Amino acid sequence: MDEDYTFELLEAPTGEDGIEIIERDKPDIILLDNKLPGIQGIEVLEYIHEKKYDIVVAMITSYASLDVAIKATRDGATDFIPKPFTPQELKSSIENITKQLYLRRITRRLTIEGKQVRYQFLSVLSHELKAPLNAVEGYLRMMQGKQAGDMVDDYADQIDRSLQRIQGMRNLIMDLLDFTKIRLEKKEGRVKPLHLAEIARGAIVTVQPYAIQIEVNINLDVRSEVVINADPADMEIIFNNLVSNAVKYNKTGGRVDLIIDSTDNEAVIKFVDTGIGIRKEDIQNLFTEFVRIKNEKTRNITGSGLGLSIVKKVIQLYFGTITVESKPDIGTTFTVRLPMNSANIT
Ligand SMILES: Nc1ncnc2c1ncn2[C@@H]1O[C@H](COP(=O)(O)OP(=O)(O)O)[C@@H](O)[C@H]1O
Ligand SMILES: [Mg+2]
Repeated sequence: MDEDYTFELLEAPTGEDGIEIIERDKPDIILLDNKLPGIQGIEVLEYIHEKKYDIVVAMITSYASLDVAIKATRDGATDFIPKPFTPQELKSSIENITKQLYLRRITRRLTIEGKQVRYQFLSVLSHELKAPLNAVEGYLRMMQGKQAGDMVDDYADQIDRSLQRIQGMRNLIMDLLDFTKIRLEKKEGRVKPLHLAEIARGAIVTVQPYAIQIEVNINLDVRSEVVINADPADMEIIFNNLVSNAVKYNKTGGRVDLIIDSTDNEAVIKFVDTGIGIRKEDIQNLFTEFVRIKNEKTRNITGSGLGLSIVKKVIQLYFGTITVESKPDIGTTFTVRLPMNSANIT
């Protein structure tokens, strides 16, 4: 509510003129006298009410007429300014009305945006879940129709691909679980002092089998024994996702360096890889849900595109930041900064 607002004033001598101005200029606030030469103020109010205009109306009444007040309230008048009034009284009424209107509009906008985001999220999600189902169904139907032969071996390829798609779906569901967790769960109970180096080791152990398979070497460099107050599950989400990305989007024989360091008041964690890199224009969307960079190099890498969006939300929960530097074909560095006195998690 620190925003400045200015007013432009339009005057109408009668209710009829008032309606004309309403139609032409769509004002935000109307100060409406009930006693008017032609139609009454209350009729103007009914007009606005019927048209469902987003206008706040304050009735100016010369005497506290109960009927008018009741009817006016029912028709959407939000305030009464009794006559006579001082300039100061008028000013504070306008201030209140303006605040009300501002809040009402902000709330409405947030509700609409919230609905849009949810709708988008669900439609992308359904698509992401339907695609692998359709693929697996297709392969099963091939087998059912014995399209490639009578023997199980004739379908080795289809079976492999089905298993891959199912694994992709499982990963998506796991990411979704993380996603709902950060949205819904309260953290207070589980926050405790954690050695980030331990969380890092856990994350490395988890991706090691895959790293060995694609010959990527992971190194942990603990330059400072950072202890942070956090929910272990949150820190695991950050480390698991960033280490797994650094391995997944790497090259054969590549390297991942996980560096844990600190300044006076922050933990500074770097995930440095020698992988495929990210183009400048792709960086800005990276943290948006379901965003995956599609090119020749990422074609065969599976993922949900949810990981980084989850990571960012968790980091924000701890008032931290995440930044990316990258050079295509050379490698990428994600830097996470977490305040060390972050016991004050909301
Ligand atoms: N270390 C990295 N190097 C190159 N590209 C990356 C790296 N980390 C993430 N990306 C890109 O960002 C996208 C989004 O990452 P993420 O949200 O973790 O989703 P996912 O890994 O499930 O695709 C990835 O699809 C990938 O294209
Ligand atoms: Mg990922």
